[in-house]
Amino acid sequence: MDIVFATNNLHKLEEIGALLGEKFRLIGLKDLNIIEEIPEDHETLEENASQKAWYIYKRTGHDCFADDTGLEVDALKGAPGVYSARYSRIGHPTFPDMEPAEGNIKKLLIEMEGEKLRSARFRTVIALVLGGKEYQFEGVVDGWITESSSGAKGFGYDPVFRPDGYKITFAEMDLALKNQISHRAQAVEQLVQKLKGM
Ligand code: IMP
Repeated sequence: MDIVFATNNLHKLEEIGALLGEKFRLIGLKDLNIIEEIPEDHETLEENASQKAWYIYKRTGHDCFADDTGLEVDALKGAPGVYSARYSRIGHPTFPDMEPAEGNIKKLLIEMEGEKLRSARFRTVIALVLGGKEYQFEGVVDGWITESSSGAKGFGYDPVFRPDGYKITFAEMDLALKNQISHRAQAVEQLVQKLKGM
């Protein structure tokens, strides 16, 4: 079964492709020559995931899904949350010379300097548009913001996020292990159950 994943993020395509298994052929936006920015201008993960999935459905006519993920840090009252991707570019300080992920991590570590309460969670919402109907799935992984970066695997905030029950960050884990426990894995598991039941 062909299904479009409304993303250009190769890390995510790889992660979710591995989770979906051979029954599904995952098509990314690059495969469809869709190169424009997909609008995501809402205040919640749910609305953004929905907006992206419907945009691609209307643009291509293909069944598709889109995800939106946020890192919610308790000491920062849930920030960066829905603004996780552009965290270092809003307000002050900004790090224009850095890669976005590097700037985001630097800003987060500065905001968390001296903070004892470092609990946080990654939350993923997937919106699936199938036959013109929408379904949503959510995955959450609780964890801890480390005091410095560790590890070189993964992407985004992985080097500073240590999931509960582990002594290493996501960036120190093999993809296979991250895929067993991650927020996205949990949401994708529900997506897969839905698709397999079709
Ligand atoms: P998006 O909704 O997937 O674009 O993600 C929003 C932000 O969260 C981006 O800055 C991503 O790099 C970050 N992010 C999403 N998923 C993960 C993850 O699994 N690990 C670390 N950072 C992530």
